[in-house]
Amino acid sequence: MARLPIIVAPDPRLKGEAMAVDTVNDEVRTLMDDMLETMYDANGIGLAAPQVGILKRVIVVDVAPSDGEREPLAMANPEVIWESDVMVTKEEGCLSLPEHYAEVNRPETVKVRYLDRENEIREMETNGMFATCIQHEIDHLDGVLFVDHVSSLKRNMILRKLTKAKRQGTLEADYAVQ
Ligand code: NI
Repeated sequence: MARLPIIVAPDPRLKGEAMAVDTVNDEVRTLMDDMLETMYDANGIGLAAPQVGILKRVIVVDVAPSDGEREPLAMANPEVIWESDVMVTKEEGCLSLPEHYAEVNRPETVKVRYLDRENEIREMETNGMFATCIQHEIDHLDGVLFVDHVSSLKRNMILRKLTKAKRQGTLEADYAVQ
């Protein structure tokens, strides 16, 4: 496994539309493993392939408490096939927007269809932190960041601060800024 550099916003590579995976083969499984290692290393709970510069529809998630057993989940071509009318507001962060957080409103429960590591089609209904995280990661596959869900005032403030931090090189050493 290899740790991959995480792209920090603002960056045009985070705004692209990722391509569907044909088959979950060894190449995709290696990407999933590398993304999990990268995510754990950065203390994240989710990561999408565009965040490491790969425009494929692949995400990894693990919302288990960090002091317990790991519960890694890798998904290819994840799509929300049903969402609840009930919405919930939660504070979100993102490895591509380090040290910034904002409240985002999303459906509380979603049903997701995806290809697992063995290229099997799976469906999962989930709520709570898991549902929020999966929706956040699927957004990345369409070039959408959590700041795109908040006011332009707040979004511009966060992106300005990140631009400045990148210029000054004051981001955490964990972040390999490209
Ligand atoms: Ni994110």
